[in-house]
Amino acid sequence: MRWSLALAQVVAERMRWSLALAQVVALLVMWIGGGSEAGFLSKCPCTTPRLCGSLPADHQVPVEVLVFDSGGADWKYYDWSKITTVVAFGRYDRELLCHAHANNVRVVLKATIAQHNLLNRNKRAVWIKKKMLLARRQFMDGINMEVWETDAPGSEYSRAFLSWLRKPQQIFHREIPGSQVTFNVPWSPDCIVGRCYDYAAIANSCDFLFVMSYDIHRRKLGNCFARPNAPYNQTISGLSAYINLGIDSRKLVMGVPWYGYDYTCLHLLEPGRCELETFHFRKPTCNFRASRWIPYKAIMRHLPKSISGRYWDDDHKAPYYIYMVNNTHHEVWYDDPESISIKSSILKKLKLRGIGVWIGNFLNYSTNPEAARQTGDMWEALRVN
Ligand SMILES: *[C@@H]1O[C@H](CO)[C@@H](O)[C@H](O)[C@H]1NC(C)=O
Ligand SMILES: *[C@@H]1O[C@H](CO)[C@@H](O)[C@H](O)[C@H]1NC(C)=O
Ligand SMILES: *[C@@H]1O[C@H](CO)[C@@H](O)[C@H](O)[C@H]1NC(C)=O
Repeated sequence: MRWSLALAQVVAERMRWSLALAQVVALLVMWIGGGSEAGFLSKCPCTTPRLCGSLPADHQVPVEVLVFDSGGADWKYYDWSKITTVVAFGRYDRELLCHAHANNVRVVLKATIAQHNLLNRNKRAVWIKKKMLLARRQFMDGINMEVWETDAPGSEYSRAFLSWLRKPQQIFHREIPGSQVTFNVPWSPDCIVGRCYDYAAIANSCDFLFVMSYDIHRRKLGNCFARPNAPYNQTISGLSAYINLGIDSRKLVMGVPWYGYDYTCLHLLEPGRCELETFHFRKPTCNFRASRWIPYKAIMRHLPKSISGRYWDDDHKAPYYIYMVNNTHHEVWYDDPESISIKSSILKKLKLRGIGVWIGNFLNYSTNPEAARQTGDMWEALRVN
C-alpha cells in the first residue's frame, strides 16, 4: 500500500517533469523558430490573410505622401485618402498595419544606424538582416533609415558606410518583394549642415531620399535672431542642390514640419526681430538653447493668447507670433496651412516624388469643431497644386 503510494508519487512526479520538459521543448522550438527566418508572428493578425501581404512592387503612386508616426492611436484619425506610406517608430501596432494595408498604404520600419554597428563587416550584415526579419515578421513593407553620427569624408566609418550602402535595398527587395527602402537626409547636401556623405551614391542605393527640409540654420553663427524653421528659399535651394548633384528629382521627397520653435528673446527690437543671447566662446555663437520645439497642436492652443496674433513674414513665407511670460518676450515661428501649401507647390516646380510630414501625431485629433477644422486644413495643405 505504502509502496504503491510511493510509486504513484514517483509516477506523478515523472509526469510533472515530462510536462515541464514538454513545455521547455515547446518554448525552445518557439525560440528557435523566432530566431530563424520563419519569424515569430507567422500568424496574420488581420481579418483576412490578404492584408498581411506586403504591397507589390507595381503598387506605385504619382505622388508619394509619407507620414512619420510616433505611436498611439492618432493614426485612426489620419486622412487615409492622402497617405501612401507610414513610417512607424512607435510600438508595433497590428491594427495600424491591417488598416494601412486595407487602404493600400505601406508601413515601413524606422531605423537609426549607429556607427558602432557599421565598422565591422559581420556586424553590418547582422544588423540589416535583423531589421529585415523584424520587418517581415511584422508584415511591414520596408525600412526608412537615418544616420546620426557626423563624420569627415574619407574616414573609416564613412568608407564602411559607402561600401555597405547597397545591402539594405538588395536584402529587402529580395526577401520582401515590393518593399520600400529609403534614407533620411538633411535639408541640404552641403557639408556645412554637418553630415558629409556621398548623397548621389546614397540615392542610387535606395528607392528615394526623404529630405528633412526643416531645422534649417539651427547652427548658424553670429547674427542671433529667432528664425523660421523651414524658410521657403532655403527649402527650395536645399532640394535643388540635391538635384544639382545629379540625383533624379523623382528620388526626392520633401519633408515639412508640423511643429515650430518657441524662442526666448533677449530683446524684442520689433516683431520678427527677436534677438537671442550670444555666447562668446571662441566664436560668437547663438544660444539656440533659448528655443524649444513645439507641436502644431500646442501652437494652436497658444496663438489666441498671444499679444501679436498671427504675423506673416513674406520674405521667408512663414507665420510667427509673439507672447509674453515672466516679463519676457517669446517669438514662435512655425508652419501652418498657408506656408505648407506654398511649399507643396515646390513638388511640381522641381518634379519631386512627393511630400512627407514630421509627424502625424503633432495635430489635434479631438472632436472639437475648431480643432477638427485646423487639423483638416493641415492635411489639405499637403495637396499638390
Ligand atoms: C485640442 O483642441 C481642443 C479645442 O481647442 C482643446 O481644448 C484641447 O486642449 C486640444 N488638445 C490638445 C492635445 O492640444
Ligand atoms: C528668396 O528668393 C527670392 C528670389 O530669388 C529673392 O527675391 C528673395 O529676396 C529671397 N528671400 C530671402 C529672404 O532670402
Ligand atoms: C516663469 O518664471 C517661473 C519662476 O521663475 C518659472 O518657474 C517658470 O517656468 C517661468 N515660465 C516660463 C514660461 O518660462
